[in-house]
Amino acid sequence: MQRILIADDDAAIRGVLRDFLEDEGFEVAEADNGGGVLSALNSSNGSRPDLVLMDVRMPDKSGLDVLREAKAGSDGGAATLPVVIMTAFGTSNVAIDAIQLGAYDYITKPFNLDHVLITIQRFFERQSLSEQVEALSTRLGERDPNEVLIGNSAAMQEVYKTIGRVARSDATVLVTGETGTGKELVATILHNSSSYARGPLVKVNCAALPETLLESELFGHEKGAFTGALAQRKGRFEMANKGTIFLDEVGEMTLSTQKKLLRVLQEREFERVGGSVSVKIDTRVISATNKILAVEIEEGRFREDLFYRLNIISIYLPPLRDRRDDIPLLVEHFLHKHRYSASAGPSRISQGAMQMLMDYDWPGNVRQLENMIERATVLAQGGIITEEYITFSGADSRQFIDVAQRLRKGTSLNDLLADVEKQAFSEALTQTEGDRVAAASLLGVKLPEFQQRLADFGL
Ligand SMILES: Nc1ncnc2c1ncn2[C@@H]1O[C@H](COP(=O)(O)OP(=O)(O)OP(=O)(O)O)[C@@H](O)[C@H]1O
Ligand SMILES: [Mg+2]
Repeated sequence: MQRILIADDDAAIRGVLRDFLEDEGFEVAEADNGGGVLSALNSSNGSRPDLVLMDVRMPDKSGLDVLREAKAGSDGGAATLPVVIMTAFGTSNVAIDAIQLGAYDYITKPFNLDHVLITIQRFFERQSLSEQVEALSTRLGERDPNEVLIGNSAAMQEVYKTIGRVARSDATVLVTGETGTGKELVATILHNSSSYARGPLVKVNCAALPETLLESELFGHEKGAFTGALAQRKGRFEMANKGTIFLDEVGEMTLSTQKKLLRVLQEREFERVGGSVSVKIDTRVISATNKILAVEIEEGRFREDLFYRLNIISIYLPPLRDRRDDIPLLVEHFLHKHRYSASAGPSRISQGAMQMLMDYDWPGNVRQLENMIERATVLAQGGIITEEYITFSGADSRQFIDVAQRLRKGTSLNDLLADVEKQAFSEALTQTEGDRVAAASLLGVKLPEFQQRLADFGL
């Protein structure tokens, strides 16, 4: 049972809160001064409260003094304290100070009991998210936070199962999914858990190089194989001997390179470019693509036989918008990963900002979410990330309207069109630098109608 300490010098208020919280299933203790709160927070036995609801004005020490002292006493002095401050109306400074001193949240007096309860529930929810993230990190020991997959959705559970099954099998795996869904991360995890982990993980981005360079990059070349080949050079396949080769964006390979790759996979040997000595390989192959290879095959851009060789096991990473339940846990993970400073605790995020993240379609998937959290942490200077710090800007920002998703959610045609229209209006204003006359004419709309629609959209 969760223990809540109510600290207020007004016995009537303590009584009301106690009755209410006990009815809600909490264990309740009381304190009528700040000293009592401090000793409760500092106690290490079972009487330490899980959460303190504390008035600001108390006879001996103010709530802010208590926070200050508790913070100084806590490890590193940076952690968020399990404290919700109660302040009278019109004292927003106190609220801001309280949060800066590490209080979790504040509620204003006179309070509404439902609001108190929501605040408390949110605290415990967040704490449980935080614990899940910490438990994960401890369970994974020294493992790099960059090498942990986060997400509890059914879709991700499937991914974990497949990874678990193939981890030690050294099977050839094809990882698919949209950009930023974690394909490279999965490849890294697969490599680290396989028997090839003793060897290196060698990555090749097949989209980054033109055909001839890619071939010499993959297979190496002999001295004199082409102009500029001054010495023999080993290719990535040779470097990956006893390890794993990760062929990223494998869907971008030309048909001729595909043919060579197929032969390597079938015969487990190849010749360097311009050479005739065959080189044997003992390498695990993992590849990834954000293309739908079935379509590429259909259109003659990808060899079907190569596809079967690469796709012995396939792992599909679903887009983030199809597993929105994972967003809070991912956010918490990235708040832990990207702290404002080395000594700072993880930043926090307001309910409203979280809602924006939940509602967004994430065309850049997890990578975009991670970048946004990192940026918001900096903008908020380690404080609470509120709505104002959430901007879907830059190249990522083209508001992506996923028609399929919206229809599944039951959006009507009218609502869908309204969203498109709103986006068009806002884009027209951006392109004309806010010139309404020009924007209206760009859209081919009469000015009065344009003004009216803008007002309707609240733009
Ligand atoms: N499930 C996840 N949990 C934690 N971090 C994730 C997860 N998925 C992706 N990331 C993080 O998001 C970023 C992008 O992931 P990654 O580079 O693996 O994506 P990708 O699918 O290879 O993208 P692209 O197709 O653009 O190359 C990385 O920082 C990665 O650590
Ligand atoms: Mg990638």
